[in-house]
Amino acid sequence: MANGEGKKKVVLAYSGGLDTSCLIYWLQDQGYDVVTMIANLGQPTDRSDIAGIAEKATRLGAVASYAVDVRDEFCDVAVVDAIAANGMYENKYPLLSALSRPIIAKHLVEIAQKEGCEAIAHGCTGKGNDQVRFELECKALDPSIKVLGPVRSWELTTRSSEIEFCAAHGIQVDATKKSPYSVDENVWGRAIECGLLEDPWNRPPADTWQMTVDPADAPDEPCEVVIGFEAGKPVSVDGTKMSVLQIVQHLNEVAGANGFGRIDMLEDRLVGLKSRECYEQPAALSIIKAHQALETMCLPGDVLAAKLDLEHAWARTVYDGLWYSPLKEAYDAFFASTQKTVSGEVRLCYYKGSCTVNGIRSPHSIYDHGLATYDEGDTFDRTAAEGFMQLFGLPNYVWASKNGSKE
Ligand code: ARG
Repeated sequence: MANGEGKKKVVLAYSGGLDTSCLIYWLQDQGYDVVTMIANLGQPTDRSDIAGIAEKATRLGAVASYAVDVRDEFCDVAVVDAIAANGMYENKYPLLSALSRPIIAKHLVEIAQKEGCEAIAHGCTGKGNDQVRFELECKALDPSIKVLGPVRSWELTTRSSEIEFCAAHGIQVDATKKSPYSVDENVWGRAIECGLLEDPWNRPPADTWQMTVDPADAPDEPCEVVIGFEAGKPVSVDGTKMSVLQIVQHLNEVAGANGFGRIDMLEDRLVGLKSRECYEQPAALSIIKAHQALETMCLPGDVLAAKLDLEHAWARTVYDGLWYSPLKEAYDAFFASTQKTVSGEVRLCYYKGSCTVNGIRSPHSIYDHGLATYDEGDTFDRTAAEGFMQLFGLPNYVWASKNGSKE
């Protein structure tokens, strides 16, 4: 894509931090006009002044800087898909970074097309999954676009060399606030890695956590919330209708205040290495727990079993950056078919770091009290049990009669 004035143009995924601030200058040195984009994904703590960060990019020389509010889109598209899939990588991590990249990529590609940029640049390192996601997802949306990951190869490998680079170029960056961790945040949670966490025997220091209180300091009284779902989507809390974004924000508060939502795991990255990762995902873990419980009431056992296999496959596919792929689309079609009857309410009880389901109800319940009860009103035909066992066990009886031990 040529830009009208003849100078090549790039759109940079800009966070306002040291790496991507250096990148503005570095790309200019390479002869690019730099357009920046920052996405508001509802990051709960730092980087919340999205407009201010966009202004900073302009001050650093960006020819245009975009701040896009994608909070509702992120929740209504990515989070809703993840809930239908009970999406948890390695059965533990609800994919917060992996879910945000497809939305960021979509907006980067749109801006690139609108601004006539030939390339997209990001500040991901060469050791992580996010570089893979940006590259695969941007190119799936526009195969002609170039994706540049200069941080992978440039000479500014240490933070101090970056600070020197900034000083030499007169770049004003607030490099004094050096966090010991690498953090990625959005409304679906917080990922924390590096620093002391790199030794898996170290306890996560207290400053690892920001969305959740220490369970020991959580209130001494249990706290209940009721989440309502319609066709697999969360639609209400305690009977009040809310958007998915509002529900996620609300549950982050409630669950976090009760010390629920911490994850500490060794994770297998796509790029081949194991990494110690901590996550805080109070709302994500709560909603998935409630959704799984509701599914047990609304879906037959064989559908649940088939779905579980596909859930693990879906989580890996999304983790691996294949959001925009025929495989993911096919998994989603299966999940969409299963979600039609997943409506009802689930009551969660938080208590000092735990979250348990203590009530489920649904207009689509296939739990049949008459069949289940041991009390009055039993409708189960016990006389059918005898014939069932004769036929169900038949292959095993034949085997035992030929090969079974006589002892
Ligand atoms: N390991 C997680 C993932 O791959 C979290 C990545 C966090 N990203 C970051 N830039 N700190 O999804």
